[in-house]
Amino acid sequence: MTSRLVVVSNRLAVVREGESPVGGLAVAVHAALKDQGGIWFGRSGETVATPSSAATITHDDHMTYATIDLTRREHNEYYSGFANSVLWPLFHYRMGLVDYRRDDFDSYFRVNQRFARGIIPLLQPDDTIWVHDYHLIPLGQELRREGVTQKIGFFLHTPFPAEELAAILPRHAQLFRPMLAYDLVGFQTEGDRSAFLHYMQSEIGAEIGSDGTVQTPSRTTQTGVFPIGIETSEIVAAGQKVKSSPKIRRIRREISDRTMIIGVDRLDYSKGLVERFRAFERLLDVYPDERNRVTLMQIAPPSRTNVRSYRQIRRELESAASEINGRLADFDWVPIRYINRSYGQDDLVAFYRSSPIGLVTPLRDGMNLVAKEYVAAQDPENPGVLVLSRFAGAARELTGALIVNPFDTDEVAEAIRIALHMPLEDRVRRWKGMMERLRRQDVHAWRRQFLDALAATAT
Ligand code: UDP
Ligand code: G6P
Repeated sequence: MTSRLVVVSNRLAVVREGESPVGGLAVAVHAALKDQGGIWFGRSGETVATPSSAATITHDDHMTYATIDLTRREHNEYYSGFANSVLWPLFHYRMGLVDYRRDDFDSYFRVNQRFARGIIPLLQPDDTIWVHDYHLIPLGQELRREGVTQKIGFFLHTPFPAEELAAILPRHAQLFRPMLAYDLVGFQTEGDRSAFLHYMQSEIGAEIGSDGTVQTPSRTTQTGVFPIGIETSEIVAAGQKVKSSPKIRRIRREISDRTMIIGVDRLDYSKGLVERFRAFERLLDVYPDERNRVTLMQIAPPSRTNVRSYRQIRRELESAASEINGRLADFDWVPIRYINRSYGQDDLVAFYRSSPIGLVTPLRDGMNLVAKEYVAAQDPENPGVLVLSRFAGAARELTGALIVNPFDTDEVAEAIRIALHMPLEDRVRRWKGMMERLRRQDVHAWRRQFLDALAATAT
């Protein structure tokens, strides 16, 4: 691939000192780009009274970061409003949490236009442009309006909703039709792509080709499935390194050699955290012999705290944790360790490696990289068991996990019990199958497959 890559996303992985890039998009795009280089364009994270029209440029190795500032109002309407109070809940099947306002919708389009105008001065004729996620759905169309003719691809990190849900959104065609300005639209799973094709056929009247193309009289858009991966070999190496590190010894000492069950999620209602705590409680109620022997360590860094539904889920979770701990804890044991801070990748690998069970039970998730990281960090001689929601994109690939319905408290409790007592031979067999997949379909393969498919689209 000779053409220069211009990646565009709302969030960049430029992290301030002491912070970790939390969120699958930033972690994965950073990993995918650090070898290839190029320009990464996005929002600075600063809000200012009068934003400059030109992007601020910084360099780091062979990556160039170009960022724009938003006003507080733009941030509220575009990011907290339309993106995270309408699209995120809608795409995660939570209609009851959708808070639609016409002003937010309009502002979302204006911010997309500002992104387009910031990018254009940076473009060279044979650049390839790769746009990411639900914050920037209409960006391709805004770029085309400004005369951009280069290849533009779009990748959706979240699920795409079933057409009946998508059609509930006021002015939905105004939002989704612009996706046909892209040369390639990529999804995490076949289910997401198929929902998109159905929507385009029934609501937009597009023709769907047998090869997954979407055709309108003016344009043809290719679609594809590109499950995002992790930096498998780096995580395997980090797992090896922490094997006998002081960090692991400290974790073990802290939990007094009890069995640790690990959960790592942004504090988001899509992650099924309250349901997870309740399933763990059910385990302890149904199997009292497990009390005092297991600890659930839940790392949940706060996310999108300006949005009401996120403040609400945080309160619910706090109250569930303290109720369960209050009822079941003993003087020398607390069932749930609930932590509201983020950790860097090395610390997470140490937690994964020290935990015989990884609990990943989202109610709906585009992929879920934590599930993959947990598997890759395990000790090949004595791997842990992944308990994974069937509603995470990762469940399509990680078939060696114990796959559960996160809405079924008894089923999740039962799966944890099975995981706690699974013989070594079964654990190794399941783990090997998953590792084979994770090595083959890592984040670098994801990048290559998407960019090759984009390069192969007809101009
Ligand atoms: N993550 C992190 N530190 C934390 C919590 C999470 O670095 O304290 C990372 C985690 O390792 C993973 C990403 O954030 O790479 C979360 O991605 P995932 O796909 O699981 O969920 P998302 O947050 O994107 O919905
Ligand atoms: C998910 C989304 C990403 C987002 C990340 C963190 O992975 O798909 O687009 O960056 O969550 O959320 P935040 O709102 O903090 O960027």
